[in-house]
Parts: sequence; structure tokens; C-alpha cells
Amino acid sequence: MSHLLEPLTIRTLTLRNRLVLAPMATSKARPDGSISDELLAYYDEKSRGGALGLAITEHCFVSEQGRNRIGQPSVADDAMVDGLSALAEVFHGNGVPAVVQISHAGAAAVEPEKRLVGPSGVATPTGSGRVARALMPEEVADIPRQFAAAARRVKEAGFDGVEIHAAHGYLLNQFLSPLTNHRTDRYGGALKNRIRLHIQVIHAVRDEVGSDFLLLLRLGAHDYLEGGTVIGEGVEAALAFEEAGVDVLDISGGLTGYGRPGTVEPGYFSELSAPIKAVVSVPVILTGGVTEPDQAERLLAQGAADLIGVGRAMLRDSAWAVKAVRTSQ
Ligand SMILES: Cc1cc2nc3c(=O)[nH]c(=O)nc-3n(C[C@H](O)[C@H](O)[C@H](O)COP(=O)(O)O)c2cc1C
Repeated sequence: MSHLLEPLTIRTLTLRNRLVLAPMATSKARPDGSISDELLAYYDEKSRGGALGLAITEHCFVSEQGRNRIGQPSVADDAMVDGLSALAEVFHGNGVPAVVQISHAGAAAVEPEKRLVGPSGVATPTGSGRVARALMPEEVADIPRQFAAAARRVKEAGFDGVEIHAAHGYLLNQFLSPLTNHRTDRYGGALKNRIRLHIQVIHAVRDEVGSDFLLLLRLGAHDYLEGGTVIGEGVEAALAFEEAGVDVLDISGGLTGYGRPGTVEPGYFSELSAPIKAVVSVPVILTGGVTEPDQAERLLAQGAADLIGVGRAMLRDSAWAVKAVRTSQ
């Protein structure tokens, strides 16, 4: 029996199978961040055939301050809702549930002219080398509101949920990692302080969207850097996020991004997802290195995760999911 083809119900939404289109930045939005026809066509092509259990869009910025680059979609303004509705219709027209990844890039923004902000006045170890300005306490206090307003817009647009981006070295990941968070206030130091902002964001989003809307969080569970976040803290953080109300934990890398240094084996983050899955009761997504359906099947059979994200293989071949479902039957 195929594990890949088993449906999964999360809250009120039933996913037809365990295959997830992983979030991938396209740089296809208009300069103001609104949804372009090119972007609609791209996601239509990726979801056509309805073979995906779930699609997660690329990261979209929750505020101008949190924008990563020109060409990134915006969820920062009510004026974006119409375009986002058209995008939701594309996925739903193809029979695919979809969530929007919402993000603040913090000190990892790549726009050359941008004044970077982060938890502390440091450069991210894997970034451009540019030093960020430390966010003032009142600015930190505004971040949950930005995520909540973004989530409201995503809900108004008709999507099935949002994914809070807390991986790959972006703002929330910068708060988690001891390498980028040197704060001495209640957001720095012990792990419970370094995940305080995450918890506030989760609560603010849940308060805004209510209970009939999926809330995913992508967690950078390990930095693979000396002095950075390690998996023990990733597990503790995952438990705290589940407790705070997250419906799905999407496991990936931290400051070093979506790859695991030194390996490209299928499911290279299973050493992170498996210990997290062992202690939480919400579904866990594992992404990274999967290029063939039988690899996804094996990772599910091993109990490494409940859902398998596929990125680059679907970037290369838009019919990947359709073929995977066919060969798994
Ligand atoms: C071009 C590209 C853009 C990406 N953009 C995002 C993004 O916006 N948000 C995110 O969480 N991950 C992003 N990722 C990481 C993917 O979601 C995924 O974790 C990574 O590609 C590893 O999975 P794969 O081996 O199946 O490609 C991106 C990856 C690629 C290749």
C-alpha cells in the first residue's frame, strides 16, 4: 500500500495525498509585489492535474521593511488581496489546496539599497556581510501585527492557510539562532526568549484567522554552524510552537538555508524531522533532496515525516506530481 497516496485530514481540510509543492521564490511578481499574469501561469502549470496534496507558495513579504527583493510577492497591503484571490483560484481550479508562505526577511534581505534590520547589529554569517541595525523594542512588538495582518489578507483571498517562514536565515530564524541574536532583553539569551517572537507571531496569526484556517510554520531546526542552533533546541522549539497552536511543522535548515552541508541524499533533513515527529502530534513536512517518488515513499514508511515536500524536481518538471501519483498507484 502506498503511503504517498494516503489522504491526511488537518483541521477541516483533507489533503488527497502526502505530496507538497515546496515554497520556491520565483521573482515573478510585479515590482510593487502584486501578483502578475506570469506568476498565475507559473502556479497554474505547477498545480495542473491536481496531483498535489498541498501547495505552498513562495515567501511573500509581510511589510515593506521585511521585503527580501523586487519581484517577491507582497502580502503587506490590502490592495494585494485581489491578485492573491486570483492566485487562490488558480490552485483551487486545479483541485489543489494552497497556503501562502509569509515572511519578514530581516537582515537577510538581498536588496542592495535596503537598510537591513535584525535582532542585533550583526551581519548574518551566511549573508552579504552587511551589518544590520538592531530592531528597537517597539519595532519587535509590531512584527506579530504585521504577520497577523498578512494572514488576514491571505484568508480574505480564499487560501486554505498560511505558513510562517522561520527558516533559512530570515528574521524569525535570526531571532532563534544564537549567532544572530545577541539581545539582552526578553527576546535574547535562553531559548524561551529566542522563540518569544515566534510564539507571539503564532498567537497573533491564530487570533486573527480563527480556527478554520491552517497555520504552518517552517522551522530552521539546525544551523550546521559552530555556535548556532542545534537539533535539541529545534525539538524544543517545535514542541513550543505546537503548544502555541501551529497545525503543521515544516522542517528545514536554519542559517545555512535549505541544503544540508555535505550531503544531497534524498530526505537529507530526516535527521531533523524524525526527532521532531517523534515528540509532536501535529503532522511534519520533510523537504530536501527528493527526486523520485519511491524516495518519498521510503521516507514516509520510515516514519521520517507525514508529508514530503518537493522543490527543485517540480521546478524542473511541472508534471512531476502527476507522474509520481501515477507510478505509486
Ligand atoms: C529557487 C528556489 C527558491 C526557493 N524559495 C524558497 C522560499 O521562498 N521559501 C522557502 O521556505 N524555501 C525556499 N526554497 C527551498 C525549498 O522550499 C526546498 O526546501 C529546497 O529546494 C530543498 O528541497 P528540494 O531538494 O526538493 O529542492 C527555495 C528553493 C529554491 C531552489
